[in-house]
Amino acid sequence: MKVGKQHYRSIWFNEDTNRVQIIDQRWLPHEFRVVDLITRADFADAIRDMWVRGAPLIGATAAHGVAEVMKADPSDASLDETWEVLHETRPTAINLRWALDDMRNLLRDTPVAERGAVAHARALEICDEDVESNRMIGVHGLEIIRKIAAQKKPGEVVNILTHCNAGWLATVDWGTATSPMYHAVAAGIPVHIWVDETRPRNQGALLTSWEMNSHDIPHHLIVDNAGGHLMQHGRVDLVIVGTDRTTAHGDVCNKIGTYLKALAAQDNGVPFYVALPSPTIDWTVKDGVAEIPIEERTGTEVTHVQGKLADGTVTEVQISPDGTPGGNPAFDVTPRRLVTGLITERGVCEASPEGLAALFPERVLD
Ligand code: MRU
Repeated sequence: MKVGKQHYRSIWFNEDTNRVQIIDQRWLPHEFRVVDLITRADFADAIRDMWVRGAPLIGATAAHGVAEVMKADPSDASLDETWEVLHETRPTAINLRWALDDMRNLLRDTPVAERGAVAHARALEICDEDVESNRMIGVHGLEIIRKIAAQKKPGEVVNILTHCNAGWLATVDWGTATSPMYHAVAAGIPVHIWVDETRPRNQGALLTSWEMNSHDIPHHLIVDNAGGHLMQHGRVDLVIVGTDRTTAHGDVCNKIGTYLKALAAQDNGVPFYVALPSPTIDWTVKDGVAEIPIEERTGTEVTHVQGKLADGTVTEVQISPDGTPGGNPAFDVTPRRLVTGLITERGVCEASPEGLAALFPERVLD
């Protein structure tokens, strides 16, 4: 999507320098920095320390990481070690394991001498597939927004609430939750987005707001606790969020706080949709609450916040008393009963084993 007037993806291969490049998201929106990822350690650091984040982008970065390592050392040992090193960086987003498995399965059947080239081509393909899946999520999600718009008086906007950043910065391009929004704007449907700030790391405040600004999409940044109030007063027409892992039975794991939004949405009769490309479905897991590992991040993400001073310096300040420890579960699980529908690249389905199986009949479920 656009940064100023220029089109960017969140990760790309620079043919001039022969380097993988990313937008270093730790500095957004205050500074736009592009960095090269070269070694296996660079890729692992970038995922673990959230220079890149968002389930689909984590997967795409891991795929490129495998490819870069294969160019230098295409041995079986290096392939297996790279799978392990990258896999342990973040535990919840299933796209990471999906991409690593995809690359390793392909490369194991590839002669060692060809592995670098084959891995490079597949990493690029994984990125292109993500872009196309997200575009199709937008095409299908647009129809949901169109139906809501049709029930409104002419000129009335459709108010959509979103949580965390499931925008283009969380994917290779388009975003998942945001793709229907971009498509609605292109179709001439007036939308307004309520952007949850998303404590503790403020992905909504820092990233989604920046994406909305860059595309002139009307929006307001709200505190995480405002959503329920806005829903009670009829100021939210639908919720669209992303997901880091959705089970074969339709439970949705996403950024901490998503579950509370789903509860408020159900209490107020507000449709609650989840947008996801199919690599985010974990076909091996049924019960999300019991089975999905939830990442626990450092407490300093809770006790400290980053922001920009009046002189433009980006800095971090402590917001709690000295010595107060922060507790920081990074994700939660929304049970499928609270989910109105899943918006995938193949269409919209019920959040249930039957709904998912109808869209993905090639997947064998227990
Ligand atoms: O911790 P993050 O920033 O990687 O978490 C991201 C999210 O929770 C997103 O909502 C999810 O990955 C979906 S991205 C299309």
